[in-house]
Amino acid sequence: MNSPAPKSFVNPRARHNYAGRPCSIIGVGSYVPERVLTNADLTRMVDTSDEWIITRTGIRERRIAAPDQYTSDLAAAAAQKALENAGITPQQVDLIIVATITPDMPFPNTACLVQQKIGATRAAAFDIEAACSGFIYALEIGQQFIMSRTYETVLVIGAEKLSTITDWQDRNTCVLFGDGAGAAVLQSRPDSHGLLTTCMGADGSKGSLLCMPGGGSRNPATPESVQSRLHYLKMDGKETFKNAVTAMVQAGQEALRRCALDIKQIKCIIPHQANQRILDAVAERLGATPEQVFMNLDKYGNTSAASVAIALDEAVRQGRIQRGDLVLLVVFGAGFTWAAAVIEW
Ligand code: ACO
Repeated sequence: MNSPAPKSFVNPRARHNYAGRPCSIIGVGSYVPERVLTNADLTRMVDTSDEWIITRTGIRERRIAAPDQYTSDLAAAAAQKALENAGITPQQVDLIIVATITPDMPFPNTACLVQQKIGATRAAAFDIEAACSGFIYALEIGQQFIMSRTYETVLVIGAEKLSTITDWQDRNTCVLFGDGAGAAVLQSRPDSHGLLTTCMGADGSKGSLLCMPGGGSRNPATPESVQSRLHYLKMDGKETFKNAVTAMVQAGQEALRRCALDIKQIKCIIPHQANQRILDAVAERLGATPEQVFMNLDKYGNTSAASVAIALDEAVRQGRIQRGDLVLLVVFGAGFTWAAAVIEW
Protein backbone atom coordinates (compact mmCIF):
# COMPACT_ATOMS: atom_id res chain seq x y z
CA MET A 1 0.00 0.00 0.00
CA ASN A 2 1.26 3.48 -0.84
CA SER A 3 2.16 5.62 2.17
CA PRO A 4 0.08 8.80 2.45
CA ALA A 5 1.48 11.90 0.74
CA PRO A 6 3.31 14.23 3.15
CA LYS A 7 1.07 16.92 4.55
CA SER A 8 1.45 20.20 2.69
CA PHE A 9 1.70 23.20 4.97
CA VAL A 10 0.30 25.59 2.37
CA ASN A 11 -3.28 25.47 1.17
CA PRO A 12 -2.98 24.86 -2.60
CA ARG A 13 -6.32 26.57 -3.20
CA ALA A 14 -5.03 29.82 -1.72
CA ARG A 15 -4.06 31.45 -5.01
CA HIS A 16 -4.16 35.17 -5.56
CA ASN A 17 -6.31 36.72 -8.19
CA TYR A 18 -3.91 39.16 -9.73
CA ALA A 19 -6.65 40.61 -11.92
CA GLY A 20 -6.71 43.39 -9.29
CA ARG A 21 -4.25 46.27 -9.28
CA PRO A 22 -0.82 45.64 -7.71
CA CYS A 23 -0.01 46.55 -4.11
CA SER A 24 3.17 48.30 -2.96
CA ILE A 25 4.85 48.92 0.38
CA ILE A 26 5.57 52.65 0.15
CA GLY A 27 7.12 53.13 3.60
CA VAL A 28 8.20 51.18 6.68
CA GLY A 29 9.00 52.16 10.26
CA SER A 30 9.64 50.60 13.65
CA TYR A 31 9.90 51.43 17.32
CA VAL A 32 11.42 49.57 20.29
CA PRO A 33 11.23 50.72 23.91
CA GLU A 34 14.33 52.19 25.57
CA ARG A 35 14.73 49.76 28.45
CA VAL A 36 17.17 46.93 27.69
CA LEU A 37 16.91 43.62 29.59
CA THR A 38 20.14 41.66 29.14
CA ASN A 39 20.84 37.98 29.66
CA ALA A 40 22.86 39.00 32.72
CA ASP A 41 19.73 40.69 34.13
CA LEU A 42 17.78 37.45 33.58
CA THR A 43 20.33 35.42 35.55
CA ARG A 44 19.22 37.44 38.58
CA MET A 45 15.56 36.52 37.96
CA VAL A 46 15.64 32.79 37.04
CA ASP A 47 18.13 29.91 37.05
CA THR A 48 19.79 30.53 33.66
CA SER A 49 23.05 31.74 32.15
CA ASP A 50 24.16 34.07 29.38
CA GLU A 51 25.93 31.12 27.77
CA TRP A 52 22.77 28.91 27.77
CA ILE A 53 20.61 31.63 26.29
CA ILE A 54 23.09 32.57 23.57
CA THR A 55 23.91 29.01 22.49
CA ARG A 56 20.26 27.81 22.54
CA THR A 57 18.64 30.94 21.09
CA GLY A 58 21.15 33.53 19.84
CA ILE A 59 19.43 36.19 22.00
CA ARG A 60 21.64 38.62 23.99
CA GLU A 61 19.12 41.23 25.09
CA ARG A 62 15.52 42.34 24.56
CA ARG A 63 13.53 45.58 25.02
CA ILE A 64 10.89 46.01 27.71
CA ALA A 65 8.19 48.68 27.53
CA ALA A 66 7.64 51.04 30.48
CA PRO A 67 4.66 50.27 32.76
CA ASP A 68 2.71 53.20 31.29
CA GLN A 69 3.66 52.40 27.69
CA TYR A 70 1.08 50.14 26.04
CA THR A 71 0.97 48.16 22.80
CA SER A 72 -0.94 51.01 21.12
CA ASP A 73 1.87 53.44 22.07
CA LEU A 74 4.51 51.20 20.49
CA ALA A 75 2.27 50.73 17.44
CA ALA A 76 1.60 54.47 17.09
CA ALA A 77 5.32 55.30 17.29
CA ALA A 78 6.15 52.75 14.55
CA ALA A 79 3.19 53.93 12.45
CA GLN A 80 4.28 57.58 12.62
CA LYS A 81 7.74 56.65 11.33
CA ALA A 82 6.30 54.53 8.51
CA LEU A 83 3.94 57.35 7.45
CA GLU A 84 6.81 59.84 7.56
CA ASN A 85 8.99 57.57 5.41
CA ALA A 86 6.11 57.11 2.97
CA GLY A 87 5.37 60.85 2.82
CA ILE A 88 1.76 60.21 3.83
CA THR A 89 -0.32 62.22 6.31
CA PRO A 90 -2.48 60.42 8.90
CA GLN A 91 -5.52 61.94 7.19
CA GLN A 92 -4.75 59.98 4.02
CA VAL A 93 -4.99 56.61 5.80
CA ASP A 94 -8.17 54.69 4.89
CA LEU A 95 -7.63 51.59 7.03
CA ILE A 96 -5.47 50.57 10.01
CA ILE A 97 -4.84 46.88 10.71
CA VAL A 98 -2.97 45.97 13.89
CA ALA A 99 -1.65 42.44 14.33
CA THR A 100 -1.12 41.65 18.01
CA ILE A 101 -1.61 39.02 20.73
CA THR A 102 -1.14 41.68 23.44
CA PRO A 103 -3.84 44.29 22.75
CA ASP A 104 -4.15 47.14 25.26
CA MET A 105 -7.42 45.49 26.34
CA PRO A 106 -9.95 42.99 24.89
CA PHE A 107 -11.91 45.89 23.40
CA PRO A 108 -11.88 48.46 21.94
CA ASN A 109 -9.36 47.12 19.47
CA THR A 110 -5.79 48.43 19.48
CA ALA A 111 -6.13 49.74 15.90
CA CYS A 112 -8.81 52.20 17.11
CA LEU A 113 -6.49 53.38 19.89
CA VAL A 114 -3.73 53.88 17.30
CA GLN A 115 -6.16 55.74 15.02
CA GLN A 116 -6.80 58.23 17.82
CA LYS A 117 -3.12 58.51 18.81
CA ILE A 118 -1.86 59.30 15.29
CA GLY A 119 -4.90 61.36 14.30
CA ALA A 120 -5.96 59.17 11.36
CA THR A 121 -9.58 60.17 11.87
CA ARG A 122 -10.78 59.00 8.42
CA ALA A 123 -9.51 55.45 8.87
CA ALA A 124 -11.45 52.29 9.60
CA ALA A 125 -9.59 50.20 12.17
CA PHE A 126 -9.45 46.59 13.32
CA ASP A 127 -7.06 44.07 14.86
CA ILE A 128 -6.12 40.61 13.69
CA GLU A 129 -4.57 37.84 15.77
CA ALA A 130 -2.30 35.28 14.16
CA ALA A 131 0.46 35.43 16.80
CA CYS A 132 3.95 35.67 15.29
CA SER A 133 2.51 35.27 11.76
CA GLY A 134 0.26 38.29 12.30
CA PHE A 135 2.20 40.88 10.34
CA ILE A 136 2.16 38.89 7.08
CA TYR A 137 -1.47 37.91 7.64
CA ALA A 138 -2.21 41.64 8.01
CA LEU A 139 -0.17 42.48 4.91
CA GLU A 140 -2.17 39.95 2.92
CA ILE A 141 -5.47 41.41 4.19
CA GLY A 142 -4.32 44.97 3.48
CA GLN A 143 -3.20 43.94 0.03
CA GLN A 144 -6.66 42.60 -0.78
CA PHE A 145 -8.23 46.00 0.01
CA ILE A 146 -5.72 47.74 -2.26
CA MET A 147 -6.03 45.21 -5.10
CA SER A 148 -9.82 45.39 -5.01
CA ARG A 149 -9.69 49.24 -5.09
CA THR A 150 -11.67 49.38 -1.83
CA TYR A 151 -9.03 51.60 -0.22
CA GLU A 152 -6.13 53.76 -1.45
CA THR A 153 -3.93 53.72 1.68
CA VAL A 154 -3.68 50.97 4.28
CA LEU A 155 -1.49 51.09 7.39
CA VAL A 156 -0.39 47.65 8.59
CA ILE A 157 1.20 47.32 12.05
CA GLY A 158 2.65 44.44 14.07
CA ALA A 159 2.95 45.43 17.76
CA GLU A 160 3.48 43.56 21.01
CA LYS A 161 4.02 44.16 24.70
CA LEU A 162 4.87 40.51 25.34
CA SER A 163 6.46 41.39 28.68
CA THR A 164 2.91 41.52 30.10
CA ILE A 165 2.14 37.86 29.23
CA THR A 166 5.63 36.50 29.92
CA ASP A 167 5.96 34.36 33.04
CA TRP A 168 9.08 35.84 34.61
CA GLN A 169 9.36 32.74 36.84
CA ASP A 170 9.52 30.31 33.88
CA ARG A 171 13.05 30.07 32.51
CA ASN A 172 11.83 27.98 29.54
CA THR A 173 10.02 30.97 28.06
CA CYS A 174 11.01 34.23 29.78
CA VAL A 175 14.39 34.41 28.06
CA LEU A 176 12.83 34.39 24.59
CA PHE A 177 10.53 37.39 24.27
CA GLY A 178 10.62 41.19 23.99
CA ASP A 179 8.49 44.24 23.20
CA GLY A 180 8.35 46.38 20.03
CA ALA A 181 6.42 47.40 16.92
CA GLY A 182 6.86 47.70 13.15
CA ALA A 183 4.65 49.20 10.46
CA ALA A 184 4.21 49.38 6.70
CA VAL A 185 2.14 51.70 4.50
CA LEU A 186 0.41 50.11 1.50
CA GLN A 187 -0.74 51.83 -1.68
CA SER A 188 -0.87 50.91 -5.35
CA ARG A 189 2.16 52.69 -6.79
CA PRO A 190 3.94 51.16 -9.79
CA ASP A 191 7.06 53.18 -8.85
CA SER A 192 7.34 51.61 -5.37
CA HIS A 193 8.15 48.31 -3.65
CA GLY A 194 5.72 45.70 -4.92
CA LEU A 195 4.26 42.79 -3.01
CA LEU A 196 4.63 39.95 -5.51
CA THR A 197 2.87 37.30 -3.48
CA THR A 198 1.73 36.41 0.03
CA CYS A 199 0.64 32.99 1.24
CA MET A 200 -0.72 31.83 4.58
CA GLY A 201 -1.51 28.59 6.35
CA ALA A 202 -2.64 27.21 9.72
CA ASP A 203 -3.00 24.00 11.72
CA GLY A 204 -5.45 24.42 14.60
CA SER A 205 -4.82 20.90 15.91
CA LYS A 206 -1.52 22.15 17.40
CA GLY A 207 -3.03 25.10 19.27
CA SER A 208 -2.29 23.83 22.76
CA LEU A 209 1.47 23.63 22.10
CA LEU A 210 1.79 27.43 22.27
CA CYS A 211 -0.96 29.39 23.97
CA MET A 212 -2.13 31.64 26.79
CA PRO A 213 -4.93 29.67 28.46
CA GLY A 214 -6.40 32.44 30.63
CA GLY A 215 -8.31 35.66 30.01
CA GLY A 216 -10.75 34.50 27.32
CA SER A 217 -14.20 32.91 27.48
CA ARG A 218 -12.75 29.50 28.38
CA ASN A 219 -10.84 30.64 31.46
CA PRO A 220 -11.98 34.14 32.37
CA ALA A 221 -9.91 35.96 34.95
CA THR A 222 -10.62 34.71 38.47
CA PRO A 223 -8.45 34.60 41.59
CA GLU A 224 -7.92 30.88 40.78
CA SER A 225 -6.87 31.53 37.17
CA VAL A 226 -4.34 34.10 38.35
CA GLN A 227 -3.12 31.74 41.08
CA SER A 228 -2.65 29.00 38.46
CA ARG A 229 -0.64 31.40 36.24
CA LEU A 230 -3.05 30.86 33.33
CA HIS A 231 -2.56 34.44 32.12
CA TYR A 232 0.94 33.73 30.89
CA LEU A 233 2.25 32.29 27.64
CA LYS A 234 2.82 28.49 27.74
CA MET A 235 4.94 26.69 25.18
CA ASP A 236 6.21 23.23 24.29
CA GLY A 237 9.55 24.48 22.98
CA LYS A 238 10.72 21.33 21.23
CA GLU A 239 7.49 20.70 19.29
CA THR A 240 7.22 24.40 18.41
CA PHE A 241 10.79 24.33 17.14
CA LYS A 242 10.19 21.32 14.85
CA ASN A 243 6.92 22.63 13.45
CA ALA A 244 8.37 26.11 12.93
CA VAL A 245 11.21 24.84 10.76
CA THR A 246 9.00 22.61 8.59
CA ALA A 247 6.26 25.19 8.09
CA MET A 248 8.59 28.14 7.41
CA VAL A 249 10.51 26.13 4.81
CA GLN A 250 7.33 25.02 3.05
CA ALA A 251 5.77 28.50 3.14
CA GLY A 252 8.99 30.02 1.76
CA GLN A 253 9.18 27.44 -1.00
CA GLU A 254 5.53 28.01 -1.92
CA ALA A 255 5.99 31.79 -2.13
CA LEU A 256 9.04 31.33 -4.38
CA ARG A 257 7.21 28.81 -6.56
CA ARG A 258 4.30 31.21 -7.08
CA CYS A 259 6.72 33.87 -8.33
CA ALA A 260 8.78 31.34 -10.35
CA LEU A 261 11.87 32.42 -8.39
CA ASP A 262 14.91 30.50 -7.20
CA ILE A 263 16.21 31.14 -3.67
CA LYS A 264 19.49 32.38 -5.23
CA GLN A 265 17.57 35.31 -6.73
CA ILE A 266 16.48 36.49 -3.26
CA LYS A 267 18.74 39.25 -1.93
CA CYS A 268 17.46 39.22 1.62
CA ILE A 269 15.47 36.65 3.61
CA ILE A 270 13.70 38.11 6.64
CA PRO A 271 12.43 35.29 8.85
CA HIS A 272 10.42 35.60 12.05
CA GLN A 273 13.10 36.32 14.66
CA ALA A 274 12.34 33.41 17.01
CA ASN A 275 15.58 31.57 17.57
CA GLN A 276 18.89 31.55 15.70
CA ARG A 277 18.86 27.74 15.44
CA ILE A 278 15.40 27.83 13.80
CA LEU A 279 16.62 30.47 11.35
CA ASP A 280 19.79 28.52 10.53
CA ALA A 281 17.77 25.35 9.87
CA VAL A 282 15.26 27.22 7.70
CA ALA A 283 18.02 28.88 5.67
CA GLU A 284 19.82 25.60 5.13
CA ARG A 285 16.69 23.76 4.01
CA LEU A 286 15.73 26.60 1.67
CA GLY A 287 19.22 26.35 0.14
CA ALA A 288 20.10 29.90 1.24
CA THR A 289 23.47 31.18 2.41
CA PRO A 290 23.82 32.74 5.89
CA GLU A 291 24.62 36.06 4.16
CA GLN A 292 21.13 36.13 2.67
CA VAL A 293 19.42 35.93 6.08
CA PHE A 294 18.73 39.09 8.09
CA MET A 295 18.85 38.65 11.87
CA ASN A 296 18.35 41.10 14.72
CA LEU A 297 17.04 38.68 17.35
CA ASP A 298 20.26 39.11 19.35
CA LYS A 299 19.05 42.66 20.18
CA TYR A 300 15.29 42.20 20.52
CA GLY A 301 14.48 38.51 21.08
CA ASN A 302 11.15 37.29 19.74
CA THR A 303 8.68 40.18 19.39
CA SER A 304 5.93 38.01 17.83
CA ALA A 305 3.80 40.02 15.34
CA ALA A 306 6.30 42.89 15.41
CA SER A 307 9.30 40.74 14.59
CA VAL A 308 9.51 40.75 10.77
CA ALA A 309 8.15 44.29 10.59
CA ILE A 310 10.98 45.60 12.80
CA ALA A 311 13.51 43.48 10.89
CA LEU A 312 12.28 44.73 7.50
CA ASP A 313 12.60 48.35 8.62
CA GLU A 314 16.11 47.76 10.01
CA ALA A 315 17.24 45.87 6.90
CA VAL A 316 16.14 48.83 4.77
CA ARG A 317 17.78 51.40 7.06
CA GLN A 318 21.03 49.40 7.13
CA GLY A 319 21.11 49.28 3.31
CA ARG A 320 20.76 45.48 3.28
CA ILE A 321 17.88 45.93 0.83
CA GLN A 322 18.29 48.15 -2.22
CA ARG A 323 15.85 49.24 -4.89
CA GLY A 324 14.95 46.30 -7.15
CA ASP A 325 16.12 43.62 -4.69
CA LEU A 326 13.89 40.63 -4.08
CA VAL A 327 13.01 40.05 -0.42
CA LEU A 328 11.44 36.92 1.14
CA LEU A 329 9.58 37.25 4.45
CA VAL A 330 8.69 34.01 6.23
CA VAL A 331 6.97 33.59 9.60
CA PHE A 332 5.56 31.03 12.03
CA GLY A 333 3.52 31.40 15.20
CA ALA A 334 0.93 30.11 17.63
CA GLY A 335 -2.17 28.54 16.16
CA PHE A 336 -0.09 27.10 14.57
CA THR A 337 0.00 29.69 11.82
CA TRP A 338 2.59 30.45 9.14
CA ALA A 339 2.98 32.73 6.13
CA ALA A 340 5.44 34.02 3.55
CA ALA A 341 5.66 37.02 1.23
CA VAL A 342 7.89 38.06 -1.66
CA ILE A 343 8.54 41.77 -2.19
CA GLU A 344 10.32 43.43 -5.12
CA TRP A 345 11.93 46.37 -3.34
N1 ACO B 1 18.32 28.46 31.10
C1 ACO B 1 18.93 27.31 31.45
N2 ACO B 1 18.38 26.11 31.24
C2 ACO B 1 17.18 26.08 30.63
C3 ACO B 1 16.51 27.24 30.23
C4 ACO B 1 17.13 28.48 30.50
N3 ACO B 1 16.57 29.65 30.17
N4 ACO B 1 15.34 26.92 29.64
C5 ACO B 1 15.29 25.59 29.67
N5 ACO B 1 16.39 25.08 30.26
C6 ACO B 1 16.73 23.70 30.52
C7 ACO B 1 15.53 22.81 30.52
O1 ACO B 1 14.92 22.81 31.77
C8 ACO B 1 16.16 21.47 30.21
O2 ACO B 1 16.71 20.96 31.39
P1 ACO B 1 16.54 19.42 31.76
O3 ACO B 1 17.21 18.67 30.63
O4 ACO B 1 17.23 19.31 33.06
O5 ACO B 1 15.07 19.19 31.79
C9 ACO B 1 17.31 21.83 29.28
O6 ACO B 1 17.54 23.23 29.46
C10 ACO B 1 17.01 21.58 27.82
O7 ACO B 1 15.75 22.11 27.54
P2 ACO B 1 15.13 21.94 26.13
O8 ACO B 1 13.71 22.39 26.14
O9 ACO B 1 15.44 20.57 25.61
O10 ACO B 1 16.01 22.99 25.30
P3 ACO B 1 16.00 23.21 23.77
O11 ACO B 1 17.32 22.93 23.21
O12 ACO B 1 14.80 22.59 23.11
O13 ACO B 1 15.80 24.78 23.70
C11 ACO B 1 14.14 26.42 23.35
C12 ACO B 1 14.66 25.36 24.29
C13 ACO B 1 15.16 27.51 23.18
C14 ACO B 1 12.86 27.02 23.98
C15 ACO B 1 13.81 25.78 21.99
O14 ACO B 1 13.04 24.63 22.15
C16 ACO B 1 13.10 26.72 21.07
O15 ACO B 1 13.65 27.71 20.63
N6 ACO B 1 11.83 26.43 20.70
C17 ACO B 1 11.06 27.27 19.83
C18 ACO B 1 10.67 28.46 20.61
C19 ACO B 1 10.06 29.50 19.74
O16 ACO B 1 10.70 30.02 18.88
N7 ACO B 1 8.82 29.78 20.04
C20 ACO B 1 8.13 30.80 19.45
C21 ACO B 1 7.82 30.52 17.99
S1 ACO B 1 6.28 31.07 17.62
C22 ACO B 1 6.20 32.51 18.38
O17 ACO B 1 7.08 33.32 18.20
C23 ACO B 1 5.06 32.79 19.30
